[in-house]
Amino acid sequence: MNVLVLGSGGREHTFAWKIANSPLCGSLFVAPGNSGTAGIATNLEIGVNDFQSIKKAVLKHNIQMVIVGPEDPLVRGIHDFFLNDATLKNTAVIGPQKAAAQLEGSKEFAKEFLFRHQIPTAAYQSFTAQEIEKGYAFLETLSPPYVLKADGLAAGKGVLIIKDLNEAKTELKQMLLDSKFGAASAKVVIEEFLDGIELSCFVLTDGENYKILPTAKDYKRIGEGDTGLNTGGMGAISPVPFVSETLIAKIESRIVAPTIKGLKIDQLPYKGFVFIGLIVVNNEPMVIEYNVRMGDPETEAVLPRVNTDLMEIFVAIKDQNLNQIDIEISPKTATTVVLVSGGYPGSYQIGHPIKGLESVKNALVFHAGTKNDGDKIVTSGGRVAAVTAFGNDYKTALLKSYQAISKITFQSMNYRRDLGFDL
Ligand code: AMP
Ligand code: GLY
Repeated sequence: MNVLVLGSGGREHTFAWKIANSPLCGSLFVAPGNSGTAGIATNLEIGVNDFQSIKKAVLKHNIQMVIVGPEDPLVRGIHDFFLNDATLKNTAVIGPQKAAAQLEGSKEFAKEFLFRHQIPTAAYQSFTAQEIEKGYAFLETLSPPYVLKADGLAAGKGVLIIKDLNEAKTELKQMLLDSKFGAASAKVVIEEFLDGIELSCFVLTDGENYKILPTAKDYKRIGEGDTGLNTGGMGAISPVPFVSETLIAKIESRIVAPTIKGLKIDQLPYKGFVFIGLIVVNNEPMVIEYNVRMGDPETEAVLPRVNTDLMEIFVAIKDQNLNQIDIEISPKTATTVVLVSGGYPGSYQIGHPIKGLESVKNALVFHAGTKNDGDKIVTSGGRVAAVTAFGNDYKTALLKSYQAISKITFQSMNYRRDLGFDL
């Protein structure tokens, strides 16, 4: 079948790389893609939220499956758009429908879901501008640090963790009354701070059955030692070394199974990835957030460890017989280190030629912000590429990622040299 991957990051390059050689994949398209996907698929110059142009491309190229990388089109209802269109309704979409995508699109919706299905998570209350006084009063009942979350999508920037009560109140005011995060902070979730170790769990579901993919840990801050501004992600390690079989069993029985069951009970159709952000407090896993897609750069460490044909898995999701598939996972550790443009996540320059990619050995380079410029590959975004390597443990794998990076250069290239420092 002809397949379209929507997105342009390292995650989408990884998807394309996984499925390009599958016997189940006919022509492969990526929209809009990057220089990496251009080498293995046909890039289409279409934005991920331009549903009408996506429709035209699907009909023109006889595309039978669309794999949605980022959350935005899912939260805007791309899956529903396909189902409600007579000419598209037989095209499979990997990604939940709009109602279920609210698990990522609204923090309040996610918290209500978690409480309704008795899935462990932090205590919370949510507030609108009219309820700001109640919000201040709720903050006074909590002990620091204070966790404030914009309800809607805020490109990963909508969560504030603040030590001082007065500062927390000021931030609450800015979010609710001064639209600090635009419409996303018209409502704010305030929750109890959980102190523990974070990890991410990735699940595939066809709405009926589920399969758990390897765990991963990402490094979100720009600076070494987890300092500085939040980014889209500076690297990831899979599996997370401290995760025992017992913890996985707890995560499955207390969180994954009730989540999939909850989706069914609430009649929220879901065919796709569920990315569960977890925090482990005294050996007890609790949910911090749901995302309705794979993580980036977690995908670049998780999917290379999946030995089973990813297309076979996607077809099983489409046909709702995921229970009939065995997913084989490599026992190796995979690490991915993200190369970024100097200045990112603030302002940065683009258009710098990237050199040395052809000299990389023993590692995979997944492109993100790259594009072809004549016969050169140049930078076109903040996150430029993710360099993935394997090892028997995370230290060996990281060493290989860093050796590969030493071959690559572009002007003001930056990356974190300390991944795994906390393990
Ligand atoms: P989120 O966008 O919901 O993943 O939140 C961003 C980050 O904020 C998470 O990765 C955690 O590090 C942190 N965080 C969110 N909620 C809490 C909480 N209740 N307690 C402690 N840290 C949190
Ligand atoms: N790496 C975090 C995310 O994809 O949301």
